[in-house]
Amino acid sequence: MEPARELLHSAAIKTADGTYGLTLHREDLSTLYPGMLRFVLEVTGEGRNPALFITNTYEYSPLLPGSAESAARKTMETWEQDLKRDADELFREYAKKPSTRKSGSAADLVILQGSPRPDGNCAILASWAVDAAHAAGKTAAVIYPHDLDIHPCIGCYQCYNTGTCVFEDDMKSVIAAIRGASLVIVCSPVYTNTVPAGLKLVIDRMQAYHAERALFGTRAGRHGLMYSVAGRKGAENFTCITRVLIAFFHTLGVTPAGEVLIDSADVVHDIRTIAGKEEEVKEQVRRLL
Ligand SMILES: Cc1cc2nc3c(=O)[nH]c(=O)nc-3n(C[C@H](O)[C@H](O)[C@H](O)COP(=O)(O)O)c2cc1C
Repeated sequence: MEPARELLHSAAIKTADGTYGLTLHREDLSTLYPGMLRFVLEVTGEGRNPALFITNTYEYSPLLPGSAESAARKTMETWEQDLKRDADELFREYAKKPSTRKSGSAADLVILQGSPRPDGNCAILASWAVDAAHAAGKTAAVIYPHDLDIHPCIGCYQCYNTGTCVFEDDMKSVIAAIRGASLVIVCSPVYTNTVPAGLKLVIDRMQAYHAERALFGTRAGRHGLMYSVAGRKGAENFTCITRVLIAFFHTLGVTPAGEVLIDSADVVHDIRTIAGKEEEVKEQVRRLL
């Protein structure tokens, strides 16, 4: 849904090489986060790609001086002067190709295999799901967050300006995979009651995908499955991890559609010895692909 947009300022700037239109809009993104506002400064004209400056209220943490609106208005005043002085320079620095919805990579099923152990019980769960996808004639990709170069999210909120993260690292390919998938499975061991660090990096950095979906639209009808293994005995070992993963599915815009939670793994050692688990996983994947 398009955010409510209010025009705060509009001007026609006459320069030596023509006339440019300058606008400042305020957009209400409070359906995403309480009170979130975006200020969009745009200069168009003379057949050029628009020059854009976008900032939002969540970028300004408590100890930062100023506000999104004051930054946008200050930039607007500077741009009015810069346009008259040297429009070429302003467009060289700020002209943006219009953003569009990005394409996804090919796999129907994407599995985030959160265990750092490539040969543990989560890897077994992932392999059962891959086998079921292939048997159904579908493609599958397994992503191992611990093998990737992923910077932690720094909470800058700039992704809500552009739909893209400020960091250029392996998260790009993870997001492309999620974008293209119709079924997402997260396999995670319980580490200190929650997900391991590598998987948490992916979960937090997926904020940029949440922003992308909010700004450019989203694909409906996708599902998520959560698979988890705990060393200790008891369902309470999954209390935190299931909450984290449901929140993650919400970020991805996929509907939670099932779970397989296996406790006592420290005693069981190899989940292939538990009757019915492989068939349970495969049946879920068959049903949703
Ligand atoms: C750092 C670390 C923390 C763990 N914390 C928990 C925990 O809080 N609760 C639990 O039940 N098991 C815990 N475990 C045990 C793992 O959940 C268990 O060994 C799991 O089967 C590992 O999955 P994998 O074989 O896919 O690697 C922990 C293991 C490690 C290495």
